[in-house]
Amino acid sequence: MSTQNRLYEQLSLSLIEQIKQGRYLTGDKLPSVRGMAKQAHVSIATVNSAYAMLEEQGWVEVRLKSGYYVKRSAAESLNRPTTPEDLSTPRPAASSELVMEVQHESASINAVNLCTALPDLTMPICSVVQKTFTRLSRTSNSLLSGYDSPIGEASLRQQIARRAVDAGIFVSPEAVITSTGCQNAVAMSLSVLTKPGDVIAMESTCYYGLIQIVESFGLKAIEIPTHPDTGMSTDALALALEQWEIKAVLLVSAFSNPLGCTIPDDKKAEIVSLINKHQTFLIEDDIYGDLAFDGGRGKAIKSFDSEGRVIYCSSVSKTIHPQLRIGWVMPGQLFDKVLHTKYVNTVSMPILPQLVAADIMAQGMYDRHLRYAREKYRQRCAQLRELIGEFFPEGTRLSNPQGGLSLWVECARHIDTTALYHILREQGIRIAPGELFSSTGDSNHCFRITFASPWTPERIEAVKRVGELLHLQSQQE
Ligand SMILES: Cc1ncc(COP(=O)(O)O)c(C=O)c1O
Repeated sequence: MSTQNRLYEQLSLSLIEQIKQGRYLTGDKLPSVRGMAKQAHVSIATVNSAYAMLEEQGWVEVRLKSGYYVKRSAAESLNRPTTPEDLSTPRPAASSELVMEVQHESASINAVNLCTALPDLTMPICSVVQKTFTRLSRTSNSLLSGYDSPIGEASLRQQIARRAVDAGIFVSPEAVITSTGCQNAVAMSLSVLTKPGDVIAMESTCYYGLIQIVESFGLKAIEIPTHPDTGMSTDALALALEQWEIKAVLLVSAFSNPLGCTIPDDKKAEIVSLINKHQTFLIEDDIYGDLAFDGGRGKAIKSFDSEGRVIYCSSVSKTIHPQLRIGWVMPGQLFDKVLHTKYVNTVSMPILPQLVAADIMAQGMYDRHLRYAREKYRQRCAQLRELIGEFFPEGTRLSNPQGGLSLWVECARHIDTTALYHILREQGIRIAPGELFSSTGDSNHCFRITFASPWTPERIEAVKRVGELLHLQSQQE
């Protein structure tokens, strides 16, 4: 083999790897032949041969007078997960007994964690958090004052109100209440809207923390069919609102956990008119809204709300750090009741973490971090989709979120992902089995897998191992 051969093969293999890792996505243009020669320090002939090889293997296509474009990826052929066809009837929400175990186990640092929807905690923003804490604990007067006011630290509410404009929400900082994370914001909102036995509507596949809140309040839930791309069905929601007295609709509007769906703007307006028509309320959990891969911050459902019936909840847990426990709620009509609930339950929040979050936003670090994190997450998501396309059995269905932190995998119906979870757990690998995400048992052949952390060889091996086990289980049908 000549040196020229080895070089062009090396170059094409490196480009295939980059396509698999999501550095080039389907439809992306590869650098020009001349540009690539310069970039890779090889001759034009070598690049021509490498590109020809990629074309021959079906990775790229030539577009006349334009260049080489990425054509195929292993993930491309995977279908989206299915959506339940029917509305469930209202039934007491029941969270899986596994939730606490999974939550506890996923904290183990000795396991490969493909389970928890955590941001990448090795990103530079984490040391910014640490440094800001140190600086502000020395320089701020937070410990000289007593309790924080129940509404929350003013500088943080101001930053939140400013940032909300990007989501199309125009509120005064006085309309924002800080909370202990997003979970607390949702729980406070639901607690003022409902009493035990009431009915609420939620996504058919939904974050287990939300199911737990609904269960702990003794509520009944109707699971509204939710599409992995476009979210909750408005037709089904309209039907449910006609049929039952629904005290609140609870949903995650962008890059929902675990499905990854985002509600399109026209549906957002429709949902708000349904809520107004039935004089009920919507709790919008927008915890992933800032994590759009393309950087485009979609409008919040709250931005279509003119009657104060959309209660908007979010936090920095998925963007900066979950340990800050900084969240917020814009309760619209329910402002006084939510504020009272916060006061009764917690009196107020610690001031220092609120100052830290506000400072990071005010100094522009938050936006800088988001630009960096979104691109990393875009690549890591694409890489995981490729791994799944390559190593999981044929027929596997997979979500294709445009932001957020996790993918939803639907296996063949006979696969029991709780059993899979237990086998993998013994091998030091954690996934989040489907039974955590629904009260109806409809998701027991699915699981959630997260992509925020870098794909180290160990993590790649873990994904391959999940694929091997799924192949084994497929053969045992
Ligand atoms: C949709 C959703 N809402 C709320 C939470 C909890 O957020 P926080 O940690 O800010 O309380 C999570 C965490 O995974 C989530 O995925």
